[in-house]
Amino acid sequence: MSYVIGVDLGTSAVKLLLVDQTGEVVNEVSKEYPLYQEKTGYSEQDPEDWTEKTIAGLKELVEQLDGGASDIEGISFSGQMHGLVLLDKQHKPIRRAILWNDTRTTAQCQEIYQKVGKDRFVNITKNLALEGFTLPKILWVREHEPDLFEQASKFVLPKDYLRYRLTETIAMDYSDAAGTSLLNVAEKKWSQQICDLLDIDINLCPPLVESHAKVGVITPAVAEATGLDPATPVFAGGADNACGAIGAGILSEGKTFVSIGTSGVVLSYEATGNKDYKGKVHYFNHAEEDTYYAMGVTLAAGNSLSWFRKTFAPDQSFEELLSNVGDVPIGANGLLFTLYITGERSPHADSQIRGSFIGMDSSHTLSDFARAVLEGITFSINDSIAIFRENGKKIDTIYSIGGGAKNPTWLQIQADIFNARIIRLKSEQGPGMGAAMLAAYGVGWFDSLQACAEAFLVEADSYQPREENVEAYRRLFQLYQEIYPQTKGLNKELMAFRQ
Ligand code: XUL
Repeated sequence: MSYVIGVDLGTSAVKLLLVDQTGEVVNEVSKEYPLYQEKTGYSEQDPEDWTEKTIAGLKELVEQLDGGASDIEGISFSGQMHGLVLLDKQHKPIRRAILWNDTRTTAQCQEIYQKVGKDRFVNITKNLALEGFTLPKILWVREHEPDLFEQASKFVLPKDYLRYRLTETIAMDYSDAAGTSLLNVAEKKWSQQICDLLDIDINLCPPLVESHAKVGVITPAVAEATGLDPATPVFAGGADNACGAIGAGILSEGKTFVSIGTSGVVLSYEATGNKDYKGKVHYFNHAEEDTYYAMGVTLAAGNSLSWFRKTFAPDQSFEELLSNVGDVPIGANGLLFTLYITGERSPHADSQIRGSFIGMDSSHTLSDFARAVLEGITFSINDSIAIFRENGKKIDTIYSIGGGAKNPTWLQIQADIFNARIIRLKSEQGPGMGAAMLAAYGVGWFDSLQACAEAFLVEADSYQPREENVEAYRRLFQLYQEIYPQTKGLNKELMAFRQ
């Protein structure tokens, strides 16, 4: 049997999937690493941890393999997006990586708009200047750590650094480059204009490649450390959201997925790069050649539910907490929740906004609150879906993945709020599977990613929207949408009291 490995370099762990030619995951290894949050808003990781843990994971997969190491025909990657890894001339990291969820760069985002102009910036990058993206982090290091910045010869993103350590070749794929704020997304090249206006040497940017491109083979040292065959080809891989899309088969117009994990993502395929969402949702290059996707990200999706359980029902499991939500009527007996507990990204890029429960009544029970939280998370994702639809996208079928796909009541809530058929996949492996599929395509097992998706992905069941529920949720969603503008000012004032 032949295999490929998909390496998903996440924020808390690296997950490695060994996948056979039928798309079955025959083995899976996960290794955690620490997150450094030394000041409010800071979020960093040590690139050495990613390398060590991945090499240990690869070694385990090879040791447990039923066959020879040469049966592993290729490796590819999915990576947490936007994280800045600055390298010196010897390609050694100059400092720890600054991650996607680090928010220290508000001033640098303003500097970008001042020097580039907001309209020009959004036209080129198709996205807003957000604290989490890479360019503001580069400017932050230049301003706050000039001695370190002086040593920088290249920047890469987390999975690119990991791939570099496995192959000694520096490259970045378009889907991840799109999240740096330095790529001209439609033209697929680094923006000389943005570099010039911000006085950044364009040579800091690495060479660009397609996600299925072979970047090299593993180094003799990695072969030795892992037991892998030294000729094992390594393919570039993509951004975690692009890989998640491939892993859910989002490879043609109209296909959309909703992923509810810590954050919530709704992502829809775009055949071209010339739409204008004016930065309200993200618009990135796909990991499939020459295609794109639009994406809305709500920061605290599953995280709101975890926060709610931990704070108000610490003795209950998620299953217990959600056991009665199906008996609570639509609208949670007049209770609405906004999930902005860590600020928000789409469609309100606002780091100061915070969450609310509106309509609390002395009759409300824990189950009412739990239902309101599920509905609030789903409404927030629907905010982005509404923007897709306003821009002419047809969204009638949505693949639901992540924690949000585990509860049947929540899947029905999604069908009714999104007014779309919700499909669950039989075995859902997320971005790691997308990475494995990029390797399977790169190696030549399939003629296209779509052919690979047809062979690998199987639908499990589906949920239809119910007309009367759709109507009730339409009214509630209008009320939900009023909460953001009405609480924005209040939350700004409350900032002074937040520790
Ligand atoms: C996307 C984003 C996150 C990270 C998480 O813009 O910031 O989804 O990619 O890994």
